[in-house]
Amino acid sequence: MTLCFMMARQHLLNLFLVLSLYWVTSSLVDARADPKPIVSSASGSGAAVKAKIPFLALDDQLAAHSNEIEKIYQQVSISSAVAFHLFGAAKPLPRASGSSDDFLSCLTPKVIRLYVSLPERANSSVVRELYDLSWELYGSSSILQACFYDLYKSIGETFTWVRDNIPLRLQEVPGQPKASAMWPNIGSLELTAAVASALSSSGPLHDTAILLSSSCGLTATAFAALVPNISSVLKELHKDLPVLQSVVKKLRDFNYVPGMSVASNSAGGETPRPKAVPNRRQMQQQQSYNRIYFLPPSNFTPAPPASLPDVLIPLVFHIMLYKNPDGSIGPDESNQAATLLDGMMKQVNMMAKPSKIQFFIREVRNNPIKYPYLLFDNREIWKDAPFCKKKKCLISSSFMEPVVADWPRSINLFVTSDTTGGNSILGYSMAPGSDFHPERGFVFISWDNVASKGFNSPGSYYDGSNTILHEIFHFLGLLHSFGSSMTDTCNDDDYVIDTPVVLGPMYSTSSIYSTLISYCLDIFGSEYGGSWNRVYEAASTRQGIPEADMNAWADSCPKKPGYDELGNYMTYTPAVCLDTIGHLTPGQVQRAHYITAEINPILYAWGQYYATMVAPPSPQPSPPPDPSLSICKVSAGSCPCKSKWSFNGTQYSFCSRIDSTSDQLWCEVQNAATCSSCAKSSDQQAASSCVMPCDAGATPSVCNLGSSANSKVPPPFPPSPPPYPPPPPPRAVREDCKVALSGCACRSTWLYDNAYTYASYCSNPDGRKVLWCLVSPTCPTFATMPYQYCASNLTASYCGTGEQVYFSTVRIPSPPPSDVPMPPPPRPRLPPKPPSPRPPPPKKK
Ligand SMILES: *[C@@H]1O[C@H](CO)[C@@H](O)[C@H](O)[C@H]1NC(C)=O
Ligand SMILES: *[C@@H]1O[C@H](CO)[C@@H](O)[C@H](O)[C@H]1NC(C)=O
Ligand SMILES: *[C@@H]1O[C@H](CO)[C@@H](O)[C@H](O)[C@H]1NC(C)=O
Ligand SMILES: *[C@@H]1O[C@H](CO)[C@@H](O)[C@H](O)[C@H]1NC(C)=O
Repeated sequence: MTLCFMMARQHLLNLFLVLSLYWVTSSLVDARADPKPIVSSASGSGAAVKAKIPFLALDDQLAAHSNEIEKIYQQVSISSAVAFHLFGAAKPLPRASGSSDDFLSCLTPKVIRLYVSLPERANSSVVRELYDLSWELYGSSSILQACFYDLYKSIGETFTWVRDNIPLRLQEVPGQPKASAMWPNIGSLELTAAVASALSSSGPLHDTAILLSSSCGLTATAFAALVPNISSVLKELHKDLPVLQSVVKKLRDFNYVPGMSVASNSAGGETPRPKAVPNRRQMQQQQSYNRIYFLPPSNFTPAPPASLPDVLIPLVFHIMLYKNPDGSIGPDESNQAATLLDGMMKQVNMMAKPSKIQFFIREVRNNPIKYPYLLFDNREIWKDAPFCKKKKCLISSSFMEPVVADWPRSINLFVTSDTTGGNSILGYSMAPGSDFHPERGFVFISWDNVASKGFNSPGSYYDGSNTILHEIFHFLGLLHSFGSSMTDTCNDDDYVIDTPVVLGPMYSTSSIYSTLISYCLDIFGSEYGGSWNRVYEAASTRQGIPEADMNAWADSCPKKPGYDELGNYMTYTPAVCLDTIGHLTPGQVQRAHYITAEINPILYAWGQYYATMVAPPSPQPSPPPDPSLSICKVSAGSCPCKSKWSFNGTQYSFCSRIDSTSDQLWCEVQNAATCSSCAKSSDQQAASSCVMPCDAGATPSVCNLGSSANSKVPPPFPPSPPPYPPPPPPRAVREDCKVALSGCACRSTWLYDNAYTYASYCSNPDGRKVLWCLVSPTCPTFATMPYQYCASNLTASYCGTGEQVYFSTVRIPSPPPSDVPMPPPPRPRLPPKPPSPRPPPPKKK
């Protein structure tokens, strides 16, 4: 008892340290790269041109040195950063009628990144060409970082003009008539000349030229010279569509099965010996494994999940390392892991905030001297660790048992492997995570989620943070919002009632997919002005399905209620959609609380304890007006505009055109009371709403408004999803069916075997006569005797536990967990050894 108390105190101390650091720096969210406000002037002088980093072809990425791999990360990062610009160019060009739009769907940073990493493509001519183009736009200067969205719009306008004015030629994809597309069919020099003339002061693209120059510092000549390269890269990628499709397919329907049989572990399967008392050895064993099987101090009572209490969950990161051939240690940035993860967890916490579940970093382990298990002998083993084709394997109990820390009170995240060489698995977790078998109670994420030249970068839309969030919520019990089956069906099989029924991951429905990319990019560019601060601030207040994510054009199961959610954190969708309209539904939040309370009671109780022990951060003052707030977001007189407003029944955003015959833009000011221009023109209305003209310099082209100014604001519509049901009533099970013979409480839900069967209290899931159960983790004998008998005169019919009982809507699924992209299936385990009805008397020898 004393021991427990001391340990608890020790952890609290750590906690305060970590947290005070965390809150002190939390105002530094701004310090994350914010691509918008860099370029200072149209001169482009700020865009210092760096010496070109030569293209690197590695023929063996497994044997490579970590510093070469670092270069590869940078290279694929640069190459994939223009994916959306290629998309913007390809979209206006003609495609076969009834096209599946498969090609457009491939033009995202993630798919392109995985494609250029394929061993068979890593040195192909198209990948080299793509790198050259991206280097020009992204790698060599700050052009793209500074004007991402403006460049995207400009490229779209340019290729719309190209479509109407330049000869095109059909290119077919063998065997896929619907994938045909048309590309410019004219010499490079001629194409450049034609585009340059269209951009000239007398040409139809003059507004585009002004935008390119004012926002990107890019001259018409320089831009026109790149147009043939964009066109050529697109054509070549399109020729390679089958390979791109295979990347998407892999992302989409991984069915990853580790091929090895995993060594069995005896800790889980001992025959119950009723009434045994833990001995010193057993207690030491528990300590050495760092198991936390006790609850917070008894003066703290956790709230039931139905009240959705605040929960603050500790995380322990294990940064797995590998030895380079020369004895040095990779990956190169691993010594920066704590800093990198700190930034990521700020983003994750903003996104998770509406769920009332927050996280703090208890420990980042990356020191191989202190923790030798972190270091694998070579990169190949490091790459393979999550997948277990070789020896050292995350999902084997022999590896995992001794290394988890503060478990199961903390979620343990193992960071290893990457997406070089054709692997596309970015992370996985059991759903929900076990608090009983460590090898099924952890989260894996790949290192390139964390690396600054990987998915933890603006060019990848900070997808790494999305991966962490997604996997952690698997651990907390959520399945994919498209359901637990990967087959494309309109089944509501995610066990959450208010997630609309959809056909499958967003990748399945490519006609929606290609539209949603431009839709989310438009929100990112126009609503958030490309500002990451605003993106994450908005995420922290987004509850349920936002209106912007109810789109009649996105409905893969039209007969079922609700439209497809483009931004549910638990689906597979482009990062830009998670960033802009990412959310969990109230039903998902409820499920995460219920499942965690049930399956991870230690974590849930301590999480609440930490949440109440820590003073909440003082509310941040509302951010000062953004100096980069453009002319397009203020009225004449410089009053900030509302991001969304409506007039005469139509919705607008910031400065918008309300009369299609005039270029004058208007907006509704955010706060009429503080806007002096409103007061002057005041009538009674002024106090509540004030629609003002915007500055004359805010023209439709400067403000990126196409000819149809409002096309990006979706009409309101939703067939609203059904309300989620109230919390389930307490289950009526007889008290004598809730205890084991030892007097320990039985768990209300417990995993019976590796077939994902859950049992409840005293049960006989294996059909034997005497009922038995998994006891509570706080039972003194839990670590050594988790399975115990119940009273021998109990029967399944008396207890009512013969059939599986689930809690309300938060049914625990029998199908296995799932992941980004895919989870390893539950690793096979020995079922608990059947407790024999009458244990034979110990043999004396
Ligand atoms: C990569 O391709 C280039 C040009 O085709 C070739 O010269 C070079 O040997 C290749 N490198 C590797 C490592 O395959
Ligand atoms: C653009 O294409 C031309 C002609 O193929 C080539 O010479 C040039 O290097 C390319 N430029 C870039 C930036 O890729
Ligand atoms: C308001 O909308 C109606 C119908 O769309 C239109 O006929 C009318 O001209 C609009 N009024 C103004 C002031 O724009
Ligand atoms: C089981 O036995 C105990 C003690 O012998 C008794 O109190 C209890 O009522 C019995 N339960 C049932 C269901 O027969």
